[in-house]
Amino acid sequence: MSSENKGTEGLRQLEYIKKLKNIVNEKKKELSRDLKYMVTTFGCQMNERDSEKLSGILRDAGFIRSESEEDADIIVYNTCTVRDNADQRVFGRLGVLKRLKDKNPSLLICLCGCMMQEDLIVEKVRKSYPHVDLIFGTHNNFKFAELLVNVYESGDKIIDIWKETDEIVEDLPSERKFKFKSGINIMFGCNNFCSYCIVPYVRGRERSRKSEDILSEIERLTYDGVKEVMLLGQNVNSYGRGLEEDITFSELLRRVCRIDGLERVRFMTSHPKDLSDELIEVMKNEEKICKHIHLPLQSGSDKVLSDMNRHYSKEKYLGIVKKLREAMPDIAITTDIIVGYPGETHEDVNETLDVIEVAQYEGAFTFEYSKRTGTPAASREDQVPEDVVKTEFDRVLKAVQNMAAKKAGRFTGRTLKVLVEGVNDRDPSMVTGRTEQNYVVHFKGDRSLVGSITEVELTECMGFYFLGRQIG
Ligand code: SAH
Ligand code: SF4
Ligand code: F3S
Repeated sequence: MSSENKGTEGLRQLEYIKKLKNIVNEKKKELSRDLKYMVTTFGCQMNERDSEKLSGILRDAGFIRSESEEDADIIVYNTCTVRDNADQRVFGRLGVLKRLKDKNPSLLICLCGCMMQEDLIVEKVRKSYPHVDLIFGTHNNFKFAELLVNVYESGDKIIDIWKETDEIVEDLPSERKFKFKSGINIMFGCNNFCSYCIVPYVRGRERSRKSEDILSEIERLTYDGVKEVMLLGQNVNSYGRGLEEDITFSELLRRVCRIDGLERVRFMTSHPKDLSDELIEVMKNEEKICKHIHLPLQSGSDKVLSDMNRHYSKEKYLGIVKKLREAMPDIAITTDIIVGYPGETHEDVNETLDVIEVAQYEGAFTFEYSKRTGTPAASREDQVPEDVVKTEFDRVLKAVQNMAAKKAGRFTGRTLKVLVEGVNDRDPSMVTGRTEQNYVVHFKGDRSLVGSITEVELTECMGFYFLGRQIG
Protein backbone atom coordinates (compact mmCIF):
# COMPACT_ATOMS: atom_id res chain seq x y z
CA MET A 1 0.00 0.00 0.00
CA SER A 2 1.35 3.43 -0.84
CA SER A 3 1.54 6.07 1.82
CA GLU A 4 -1.24 8.05 0.07
CA ASN A 5 -3.61 5.12 0.54
CA LYS A 6 -2.77 4.88 4.21
CA GLY A 7 -3.86 8.47 4.25
CA THR A 8 -2.44 9.92 7.43
CA GLU A 9 -0.40 13.08 7.53
CA GLY A 10 2.24 11.35 9.65
CA LEU A 11 2.91 8.81 6.90
CA ARG A 12 2.99 11.52 4.27
CA GLN A 13 5.68 13.29 6.25
CA LEU A 14 7.69 10.07 6.62
CA GLU A 15 7.78 9.97 2.81
CA TYR A 16 9.16 13.52 2.81
CA ILE A 17 11.84 12.51 5.29
CA LYS A 18 12.90 9.84 2.76
CA LYS A 19 12.97 12.42 -0.03
CA LEU A 20 15.01 14.74 2.16
CA LYS A 21 17.40 11.89 2.86
CA ASN A 22 18.01 11.45 -0.87
CA ILE A 23 18.77 15.16 -1.19
CA VAL A 24 21.13 15.01 1.80
CA ASN A 25 22.91 11.97 0.32
CA GLU A 26 23.44 13.80 -2.97
CA LYS A 27 24.87 16.79 -1.18
CA LYS A 28 27.12 14.61 0.95
CA LYS A 29 28.56 13.09 -2.22
CA GLU A 30 29.06 16.52 -3.76
CA LEU A 31 30.84 17.87 -0.71
CA SER A 32 32.56 14.59 0.34
CA ARG A 33 31.56 15.23 3.92
CA ASP A 34 28.64 14.93 6.32
CA LEU A 35 25.95 17.59 6.60
CA LYS A 36 25.41 18.99 10.07
CA TYR A 37 22.48 20.60 11.87
CA MET A 38 21.98 22.72 14.91
CA VAL A 39 18.60 23.38 16.55
CA THR A 40 18.42 26.09 19.23
CA THR A 41 15.41 26.45 21.51
CA PHE A 42 14.42 29.76 23.04
CA GLY A 43 11.23 28.85 24.89
CA CYS A 44 9.53 26.61 27.40
CA GLN A 45 9.47 22.82 27.74
CA MET A 46 6.87 22.65 25.04
CA ASN A 47 9.25 24.31 22.63
CA GLU A 48 12.04 22.00 23.82
CA ARG A 49 9.87 19.06 22.92
CA ASP A 50 9.08 20.53 19.50
CA SER A 51 12.82 20.96 18.94
CA GLU A 52 13.38 17.30 19.72
CA LYS A 53 10.89 16.47 16.99
CA LEU A 54 12.56 18.83 14.50
CA SER A 55 15.94 17.30 15.39
CA GLY A 56 14.49 13.80 14.96
CA ILE A 57 13.41 14.68 11.43
CA LEU A 58 16.87 16.03 10.59
CA ARG A 59 18.61 13.01 12.12
CA ASP A 60 16.41 10.56 10.20
CA ALA A 61 17.13 12.51 7.01
CA GLY A 62 20.85 11.90 7.53
CA PHE A 63 22.07 15.14 9.12
CA ILE A 64 24.52 14.91 12.00
CA ARG A 65 24.23 17.08 15.10
CA SER A 66 26.72 19.92 15.26
CA GLU A 67 28.03 21.44 18.45
CA SER A 68 28.58 24.86 16.92
CA GLU A 69 26.85 27.15 14.45
CA GLU A 70 30.15 27.72 12.67
CA ASP A 71 30.17 24.31 11.00
CA ALA A 72 26.43 23.72 10.64
CA ASP A 73 24.77 23.35 7.23
CA ILE A 74 21.33 24.00 8.65
CA ILE A 75 20.53 26.20 11.65
CA VAL A 76 17.06 26.20 13.22
CA TYR A 77 15.91 28.77 15.78
CA ASN A 78 12.79 27.58 17.58
CA THR A 79 11.58 30.87 19.01
CA CYS A 80 9.56 32.08 22.00
CA THR A 81 7.61 35.31 22.31
CA VAL A 82 6.21 35.13 25.83
CA ARG A 83 8.20 38.21 26.88
CA ASP A 84 9.93 40.88 24.83
CA ASN A 85 13.44 39.83 25.92
CA ALA A 86 12.82 36.43 24.24
CA ASP A 87 12.18 38.26 20.95
CA GLN A 88 15.26 40.44 21.37
CA ARG A 89 17.51 37.43 21.93
CA VAL A 90 16.42 35.95 18.62
CA PHE A 91 16.95 39.19 16.71
CA GLY A 92 20.40 39.56 18.27
CA ARG A 93 21.45 36.08 17.22
CA LEU A 94 19.96 36.47 13.72
CA GLY A 95 22.22 39.43 13.07
CA VAL A 96 25.25 37.25 13.80
CA LEU A 97 24.05 34.53 11.41
CA LYS A 98 24.35 36.92 8.50
CA ARG A 99 28.14 36.63 8.74
CA LEU A 100 27.97 32.81 8.72
CA LYS A 101 25.74 32.83 5.68
CA ASP A 102 28.19 35.12 3.86
CA LYS A 103 30.95 32.60 4.55
CA ASN A 104 28.85 29.58 3.61
CA PRO A 105 26.11 30.44 1.07
CA SER A 106 24.70 26.89 1.15
CA LEU A 107 23.89 27.27 4.85
CA LEU A 108 20.11 27.06 5.44
CA ILE A 109 18.68 29.31 8.17
CA CYS A 110 15.25 28.32 9.47
CA LEU A 111 13.01 30.15 11.95
CA CYS A 112 10.00 28.58 13.63
CA GLY A 113 8.07 28.61 16.89
CA CYS A 114 5.84 31.06 18.67
CA MET A 115 7.37 34.33 17.45
CA MET A 116 6.64 33.35 13.86
CA GLN A 117 2.90 33.29 14.55
CA GLU A 118 2.99 37.08 14.74
CA ASP A 119 2.56 38.92 11.42
CA LEU A 120 4.63 41.93 12.44
CA ILE A 121 7.59 39.76 13.37
CA VAL A 122 7.51 37.81 10.11
CA GLU A 123 7.33 41.11 8.23
CA LYS A 124 10.36 42.40 10.14
CA VAL A 125 12.34 39.22 9.44
CA ARG A 126 11.44 39.38 5.75
CA LYS A 127 12.58 42.99 5.48
CA SER A 128 15.59 43.13 7.77
CA TYR A 129 16.98 39.58 7.76
CA PRO A 130 16.88 38.42 4.11
CA HIS A 131 19.41 35.68 4.89
CA VAL A 132 16.63 33.60 6.51
CA ASP A 133 15.59 30.78 4.13
CA LEU A 134 12.59 29.14 5.78
CA ILE A 135 9.96 30.43 8.20
CA PHE A 136 7.19 28.26 9.59
CA GLY A 137 4.98 28.39 12.66
CA THR A 138 3.77 26.32 15.58
CA HIS A 139 0.78 24.75 13.82
CA ASN A 140 2.63 23.23 10.87
CA ASN A 141 5.97 22.23 12.38
CA PHE A 142 5.16 18.59 11.60
CA LYS A 143 5.68 19.60 7.95
CA PHE A 144 9.36 20.44 8.50
CA ALA A 145 10.68 17.72 6.17
CA GLU A 146 8.27 18.70 3.40
CA LEU A 147 9.18 22.38 3.71
CA LEU A 148 12.90 21.59 3.59
CA VAL A 149 12.47 19.44 0.49
CA ASN A 150 10.65 22.37 -1.14
CA VAL A 151 13.41 24.82 -0.19
CA TYR A 152 16.16 22.52 -1.51
CA GLU A 153 14.28 21.68 -4.71
CA SER A 154 13.12 25.21 -5.55
CA GLY A 155 16.07 27.17 -4.19
CA ASP A 156 13.48 29.73 -3.03
CA LYS A 157 12.82 31.20 0.37
CA ILE A 158 9.64 29.80 1.92
CA ILE A 159 7.32 31.36 4.49
CA ASP A 160 4.49 29.05 5.59
CA ILE A 161 2.47 30.08 8.63
CA TRP A 162 -0.91 28.59 9.57
CA LYS A 163 -3.34 30.61 11.65
CA GLU A 164 -4.86 27.59 13.38
CA THR A 165 -5.07 23.82 13.27
CA ASP A 166 -7.09 21.14 14.95
CA GLU A 167 -4.76 18.46 13.69
CA ILE A 168 -2.40 16.49 15.91
CA VAL A 169 0.12 14.56 13.84
CA GLU A 170 1.33 11.43 15.62
CA ASP A 171 4.27 9.09 15.10
CA LEU A 172 6.94 11.44 13.79
CA PRO A 173 10.52 10.79 14.88
CA SER A 174 12.18 12.62 17.74
CA GLU A 175 15.76 13.01 18.91
CA ARG A 176 15.71 13.13 22.71
CA LYS A 177 18.10 15.37 24.58
CA PHE A 178 18.29 12.85 27.45
CA LYS A 179 18.22 9.08 27.19
CA PHE A 180 16.56 8.56 30.55
CA LYS A 181 13.96 11.32 30.69
CA SER A 182 11.55 12.88 28.25
CA GLY A 183 8.82 15.45 27.91
CA ILE A 184 5.50 14.24 26.48
CA ASN A 185 2.87 16.57 25.09
CA ILE A 186 -0.52 15.62 26.48
CA MET A 187 -2.20 18.67 25.01
CA PHE A 188 -1.46 21.64 22.79
CA GLY A 189 -2.61 25.26 22.83
CA CYS A 190 -4.41 27.20 25.51
CA ASN A 191 -7.96 28.50 26.02
CA ASN A 192 -7.43 30.58 29.12
CA PHE A 193 -6.58 33.97 27.66
CA CYS A 194 -4.92 35.40 30.74
CA SER A 195 -5.01 39.07 29.84
CA TYR A 196 -1.21 39.56 29.68
CA CYS A 197 -0.38 36.38 27.78
CA ILE A 198 0.39 35.83 24.10
CA VAL A 199 0.42 32.01 24.23
CA PRO A 200 -3.24 31.42 23.24
CA TYR A 201 -2.69 33.60 20.16
CA VAL A 202 0.47 31.85 19.00
CA ARG A 203 -0.34 28.28 20.06
CA GLY A 204 -4.03 28.22 19.17
CA ARG A 205 -6.94 26.52 20.88
CA GLU A 206 -6.51 23.84 23.48
CA ARG A 207 -6.57 20.27 22.16
CA SER A 208 -5.81 17.10 24.08
CA ARG A 209 -4.12 14.06 22.65
CA LYS A 210 -5.97 10.75 22.92
CA SER A 211 -4.93 8.86 26.04
CA GLU A 212 -4.05 5.75 24.01
CA ASP A 213 -1.57 7.78 21.93
CA ILE A 214 0.02 9.26 25.05
CA LEU A 215 0.23 5.89 26.81
CA SER A 216 1.70 4.09 23.84
CA GLU A 217 4.29 6.83 23.35
CA ILE A 218 5.34 6.51 27.00
CA GLU A 219 5.44 2.71 26.72
CA ARG A 220 7.78 3.01 23.74
CA LEU A 221 9.97 5.52 25.57
CA THR A 222 10.15 3.31 28.64
CA TYR A 223 11.17 0.39 26.46
CA ASP A 224 13.90 2.67 25.12
CA GLY A 225 15.29 3.37 28.60
CA VAL A 226 13.29 6.39 29.78
CA LYS A 227 12.77 6.42 33.56
CA GLU A 228 11.10 9.79 34.02
CA VAL A 229 8.45 11.55 31.95
CA MET A 230 7.20 15.11 32.19
CA LEU A 231 3.61 15.46 30.95
CA LEU A 232 3.37 18.80 29.19
CA GLY A 233 0.52 21.24 28.61
CA GLN A 234 -0.23 24.91 29.29
CA ASN A 235 -2.90 23.79 31.73
CA VAL A 236 -2.65 20.05 32.32
CA ASN A 237 -5.55 20.17 34.77
CA SER A 238 -7.99 20.65 31.92
CA TYR A 239 -6.68 17.60 30.04
CA GLY A 240 -9.44 15.60 28.36
CA ARG A 241 -11.85 18.41 27.55
CA GLY A 242 -13.13 18.03 24.02
CA LEU A 243 -12.01 14.40 23.65
CA GLU A 244 -14.53 11.72 22.73
CA GLU A 245 -13.33 9.55 25.59
CA ASP A 246 -14.35 10.53 29.11
CA ILE A 247 -11.07 11.11 30.91
CA THR A 248 -9.62 13.59 33.41
CA PHE A 249 -5.99 14.51 34.06
CA SER A 250 -6.08 12.54 37.31
CA GLU A 251 -7.23 9.43 35.49
CA LEU A 252 -4.55 9.89 32.84
CA LEU A 253 -1.94 10.11 35.60
CA ARG A 254 -3.21 6.89 37.16
CA ARG A 255 -2.89 5.10 33.83
CA VAL A 256 0.58 6.51 33.17
CA CYS A 257 1.71 5.27 36.59
CA ARG A 258 0.67 1.71 35.65
CA ILE A 259 3.33 1.56 32.92
CA ASP A 260 5.98 -1.00 33.88
CA GLY A 261 9.54 0.25 33.89
CA LEU A 262 8.54 3.88 34.23
CA GLU A 263 9.78 5.18 37.56
CA ARG A 264 8.95 8.86 37.79
CA VAL A 265 6.15 11.07 36.53
CA ARG A 266 6.18 14.88 36.51
CA PHE A 267 3.77 17.32 34.94
CA MET A 268 3.66 20.96 33.99
CA THR A 269 1.87 23.40 34.17
CA SER A 270 -1.05 23.31 36.59
CA HIS A 271 -3.47 26.21 36.49
CA PRO A 272 -4.81 26.75 40.02
CA LYS A 273 -8.36 27.36 38.77
CA ASP A 274 -8.69 23.74 37.59
CA LEU A 275 -6.72 21.90 40.26
CA SER A 276 -9.01 19.23 41.69
CA ASP A 277 -9.02 17.41 45.03
CA GLU A 278 -8.83 14.26 42.94
CA LEU A 279 -5.45 15.38 41.61
CA ILE A 280 -4.13 15.89 45.14
CA GLU A 281 -5.33 12.38 46.04
CA VAL A 282 -3.64 10.86 43.00
CA MET A 283 -0.40 12.71 43.68
CA LYS A 284 -0.44 11.50 47.25
CA ASN A 285 -1.24 7.86 46.45
CA GLU A 286 0.81 7.22 43.34
CA GLU A 287 4.40 6.63 44.34
CA LYS A 288 5.73 7.35 40.87
CA ILE A 289 4.43 10.92 40.85
CA CYS A 290 7.18 13.26 41.97
CA LYS A 291 6.33 15.35 44.98
CA HIS A 292 6.68 18.63 43.15
CA ILE A 293 4.09 20.92 41.69
CA HIS A 294 4.60 24.09 39.68
CA LEU A 295 1.59 26.24 40.50
CA PRO A 296 1.83 29.71 38.94
CA LEU A 297 0.47 32.41 41.23
CA GLN A 298 1.14 35.46 38.98
CA SER A 299 -0.11 37.83 41.70
CA GLY A 300 -1.34 37.69 45.29
CA SER A 301 -3.76 40.60 44.85
CA ASP A 302 -7.39 39.72 44.17
CA LYS A 303 -7.81 42.86 42.10
CA VAL A 304 -4.82 42.04 39.89
CA LEU A 305 -5.80 38.37 39.64
CA SER A 306 -9.25 39.37 38.46
CA ASP A 307 -7.79 41.84 35.94
CA MET A 308 -5.47 39.10 34.75
CA ASN A 309 -8.48 36.84 34.10
CA ARG A 310 -6.99 34.11 36.26
CA HIS A 311 -10.31 32.93 37.82
CA TYR A 312 -9.06 32.37 41.38
CA SER A 313 -8.57 34.48 44.48
CA LYS A 314 -5.68 34.69 46.90
CA GLU A 315 -7.78 32.73 49.39
CA LYS A 316 -8.62 29.96 46.94
CA TYR A 317 -4.97 29.70 45.90
CA LEU A 318 -3.74 29.46 49.48
CA GLY A 319 -6.44 26.88 50.18
CA ILE A 320 -4.99 24.65 47.47
CA VAL A 321 -1.46 25.11 48.81
CA LYS A 322 -2.65 24.14 52.29
CA LYS A 323 -4.31 20.96 51.00
CA LEU A 324 -1.21 20.02 49.02
CA ARG A 325 1.11 20.51 52.01
CA GLU A 326 -1.21 18.62 54.36
CA ALA A 327 -1.51 15.69 51.97
CA MET A 328 2.22 15.59 51.13
CA PRO A 329 4.50 17.15 53.76
CA ASP A 330 7.57 16.62 51.54
CA ILE A 331 6.12 18.35 48.51
CA ALA A 332 7.99 21.20 46.84
CA ILE A 333 5.74 23.95 45.51
CA THR A 334 7.16 26.36 42.94
CA THR A 335 5.53 29.23 41.14
CA ASP A 336 5.64 32.03 38.57
CA ILE A 337 5.09 35.65 39.58
CA ILE A 338 4.60 38.69 37.35
CA VAL A 339 5.52 42.11 38.75
CA GLY A 340 4.31 45.33 37.16
CA TYR A 341 1.00 44.28 35.63
CA PRO A 342 -0.92 47.43 34.54
CA GLY A 343 -2.50 49.16 37.51
CA GLU A 344 -0.54 47.15 40.08
CA THR A 345 0.16 49.18 43.24
CA HIS A 346 2.66 48.86 46.08
CA GLU A 347 -0.18 47.38 48.18
CA ASP A 348 -0.93 44.80 45.48
CA VAL A 349 2.72 43.71 45.61
CA ASN A 350 2.41 43.48 49.41
CA GLU A 351 -0.34 40.92 48.83
CA THR A 352 2.02 38.93 46.61
CA LEU A 353 4.69 39.07 49.34
CA ASP A 354 2.10 37.80 51.79
CA VAL A 355 1.34 34.79 49.61
CA ILE A 356 5.08 34.03 49.32
CA GLU A 357 5.26 34.03 53.14
CA VAL A 358 2.21 31.84 53.65
CA ALA A 359 2.72 29.46 50.70
CA GLN A 360 6.38 28.95 51.67
CA TYR A 361 7.54 28.37 48.11
CA GLU A 362 10.53 26.14 47.49
CA GLY A 363 11.24 28.20 44.38
CA ALA A 364 9.80 30.85 42.09
CA PHE A 365 10.39 32.45 38.71
CA THR A 366 9.79 36.18 38.93
CA PHE A 367 9.12 38.14 35.74
CA GLU A 368 8.76 41.82 34.98
CA TYR A 369 5.49 42.33 33.14
CA SER A 370 6.16 42.53 29.42
CA LYS A 371 3.64 44.20 27.12
CA ARG A 372 2.54 41.81 24.37
CA THR A 373 0.86 43.45 21.39
CA GLY A 374 -2.66 42.14 20.83
CA THR A 375 -3.31 41.09 24.43
CA PRO A 376 -5.97 42.99 26.44
CA ALA A 377 -3.45 44.16 29.07
CA ALA A 378 -1.28 45.83 26.42
CA SER A 379 -3.92 48.41 25.58
CA ARG A 380 -4.43 49.52 29.19
CA GLU A 381 -3.42 53.07 29.91
CA ASP A 382 -2.25 52.48 33.47
CA GLN A 383 1.04 50.74 32.55
CA VAL A 384 3.43 50.83 35.53
CA PRO A 385 6.54 53.02 35.00
CA GLU A 386 9.75 51.07 34.47
CA ASP A 387 11.55 52.36 37.58
CA VAL A 388 8.60 51.39 39.80
CA VAL A 389 8.54 47.92 38.25
CA LYS A 390 12.26 47.51 38.98
CA THR A 391 11.88 48.49 42.65
CA GLU A 392 8.86 46.24 43.19
CA PHE A 393 10.52 43.41 41.29
CA ASP A 394 13.51 43.56 43.64
CA ARG A 395 11.26 43.29 46.68
CA VAL A 396 9.60 40.16 45.27
CA LEU A 397 12.86 38.63 44.09
CA LYS A 398 14.45 39.04 47.50
CA ALA A 399 11.44 37.49 49.21
CA VAL A 400 11.38 34.40 46.98
CA GLN A 401 15.14 33.92 47.22
CA ASN A 402 15.09 34.11 51.01
CA MET A 403 12.18 31.73 51.19
CA ALA A 404 13.76 29.22 48.79
CA ALA A 405 17.03 29.21 50.76
CA LYS A 406 15.14 28.74 54.02
CA LYS A 407 13.00 25.94 52.62
CA ALA A 408 15.86 23.92 51.10
CA GLY A 409 17.45 23.53 54.53
CA ARG A 410 14.65 21.29 55.75
CA PHE A 411 15.93 18.43 53.60
CA THR A 412 19.49 18.48 54.98
CA GLY A 413 20.31 15.11 56.53
CA ARG A 414 17.46 13.34 54.74
CA THR A 415 18.04 10.40 52.39
CA LEU A 416 16.11 10.85 49.15
CA LYS A 417 15.89 9.13 45.79
CA VAL A 418 17.93 10.88 43.13
CA LEU A 419 17.78 10.37 39.36
CA VAL A 420 21.36 10.80 38.17
CA GLU A 421 21.42 13.08 35.13
CA GLY A 422 25.10 13.38 34.30
CA VAL A 423 28.72 13.63 35.33
CA ASN A 424 29.37 16.84 37.26
CA ASP A 425 30.47 19.72 35.01
CA ARG A 426 33.30 20.85 37.27
CA ASP A 427 34.43 17.69 39.05
CA PRO A 428 34.48 14.47 36.96
CA SER A 429 34.64 12.34 40.12
CA MET A 430 31.12 13.49 40.95
CA VAL A 431 27.69 13.09 39.39
CA THR A 432 24.66 15.36 39.44
CA GLY A 433 21.03 14.39 39.81
CA ARG A 434 17.64 15.54 40.99
CA THR A 435 15.37 14.63 43.87
CA GLU A 436 11.63 14.27 43.38
CA GLN A 437 11.32 17.86 44.64
CA ASN A 438 13.55 18.88 41.74
CA TYR A 439 16.50 19.80 43.96
CA VAL A 440 19.89 19.38 42.33
CA VAL A 441 22.31 17.13 44.25
CA HIS A 442 26.03 16.57 43.58
CA PHE A 443 27.72 13.48 45.00
CA LYS A 444 30.73 11.19 44.46
CA GLY A 445 30.04 8.67 41.73
CA ASP A 446 30.94 7.69 38.20
CA ARG A 447 29.38 7.76 34.75
CA SER A 448 27.82 4.31 35.17
CA LEU A 449 25.26 5.85 37.52
CA VAL A 450 23.86 8.18 34.86
CA GLY A 451 20.23 7.36 34.17
CA SER A 452 19.71 5.37 37.36
CA ILE A 453 17.77 6.22 40.49
CA THR A 454 19.74 5.86 43.70
CA GLU A 455 19.41 6.77 47.39
CA VAL A 456 21.46 9.76 48.40
CA GLU A 457 21.90 11.34 51.81
CA LEU A 458 21.76 15.13 51.47
CA THR A 459 24.70 16.05 53.67
CA GLU A 460 25.02 19.77 53.02
CA CYS A 461 22.65 22.43 51.74
CA MET A 462 24.41 24.98 49.55
CA GLY A 463 21.46 27.38 49.30
CA PHE A 464 19.62 26.15 46.24
CA TYR A 465 21.35 22.80 45.76
CA PHE A 466 22.85 20.02 47.87
CA LEU A 467 26.01 18.01 48.32
CA GLY A 468 25.28 14.39 49.13
CA ARG A 469 26.56 10.88 49.71
CA GLN A 470 25.30 7.78 47.96
CA ILE A 471 23.82 5.26 50.39
CA GLY A 472 24.40 1.54 49.77
N1 SAH B 1 0.56 28.06 31.01
C1 SAH B 1 1.36 28.42 32.09
C2 SAH B 1 2.36 29.50 31.80
C3 SAH B 1 3.06 29.60 30.51
S1 SAH B 1 4.01 31.05 30.28
C4 SAH B 1 0.45 28.89 33.21
O1 SAH B 1 -0.59 29.43 33.00
O2 SAH B 1 0.86 28.76 34.31
C5 SAH B 1 5.12 30.97 31.65
C6 SAH B 1 5.07 32.14 32.55
O3 SAH B 1 5.46 33.31 31.85
C7 SAH B 1 3.72 32.50 33.12
O4 SAH B 1 3.37 31.71 34.21
C8 SAH B 1 3.88 33.95 33.48
O5 SAH B 1 4.34 34.09 34.80
C9 SAH B 1 4.94 34.43 32.52
N2 SAH B 1 4.38 35.35 31.54
C10 SAH B 1 3.48 35.10 30.59
N3 SAH B 1 3.19 36.22 29.90
C11 SAH B 1 3.94 37.21 30.43
C12 SAH B 1 4.09 38.60 30.17
N4 SAH B 1 3.40 39.21 29.22
N5 SAH B 1 4.98 39.31 30.92
C13 SAH B 1 5.68 38.71 31.90
N6 SAH B 1 5.57 37.41 32.19
C14 SAH B 1 4.71 36.66 31.48
FE1 SF4 C 1 -0.81 32.01 29.16
FE2 SF4 C 1 -2.69 31.83 30.96
FE3 SF4 C 1 -2.60 30.06 28.97
FE4 SF4 C 1 -0.77 30.02 30.88
S1 SF4 C 1 -2.94 29.62 31.13
S2 SF4 C 1 -0.41 29.87 28.69
S3 SF4 C 1 -0.50 32.16 31.37
S4 SF4 C 1 -3.02 32.23 28.80
FE1 F3S D 1 7.37 30.79 24.73
FE2 F3S D 1 5.73 29.64 23.08
FE3 F3S D 1 6.46 28.41 25.28
S1 F3S D 1 5.72 31.77 23.62
S2 F3S D 1 6.81 30.06 26.69
S3 F3S D 1 7.77 28.96 23.63
S4 F3S D 1 4.48 28.28 24.29
